[in-house]
Amino acid sequence: MPRRNIEVIEAAGINVKKLLDMLVRAAAAEFVTYYYYTLLRNHAAGMEGEAIKEIVEDARIEDRNHFEALVPRIYELGGSLPNNLVEFIRIASCPEPKLPENPTIKNILEVLLEAERCAVSVYSEICRYTHGKDPRTYDLSLAILHEEVEHEAWFEELLTGRPSGHFRRKTPGESPYVSKFLRT
Ligand SMILES: [Fe+2]
Ligand SMILES: [Fe+2]
Repeated sequence: MPRRNIEVIEAAGINVKKLLDMLVRAAAAEFVTYYYYTLLRNHAAGMEGEAIKEIVEDARIEDRNHFEALVPRIYELGGSLPNNLVEFIRIASCPEPKLPENPTIKNILEVLLEAERCAVSVYSEICRYTHGKDPRTYDLSLAILHEEVEHEAWFEELLTGRPSGHFRRKTPGESPYVSKFLRT
């Protein structure tokens, strides 16, 4: 028997296969981001690097939280993660935020900013697609979007000096919007 959860969103106009593709690609991008942000945070070294290290850590943990929050929804919708990590990474919806060849703090911040800009586009698109049709996925992607918009603004502030409204999280990677979706 099909899950009522799937029937009702299909009746509202959602193509579940298309939505699952969007969610799995977004989860892959979060997984990849978490890995590369680990690298970027470690290379945020020296006095200049120390100034951004905690902020990179907040974004790193929150992006990992986004992966964790997306996975249960993928399975609820009848989907699954690929049983091949290389394949999973290949389908990520954003380019890999690699450590730049010349890893100055400015260059690292540019990589971070580009990654967050891509994430803002990804979740804006999922919100647009699910709005009024799939309240649970919409609520989840909106919560993630709130955090991605903040991440983008933080890195833009660090790069340009333009205020973003940033003040530190209460705890590292607090995820003020996404935490309600996390099981642990
Ligand atoms: Fe994220
Ligand atoms: Fe992010």
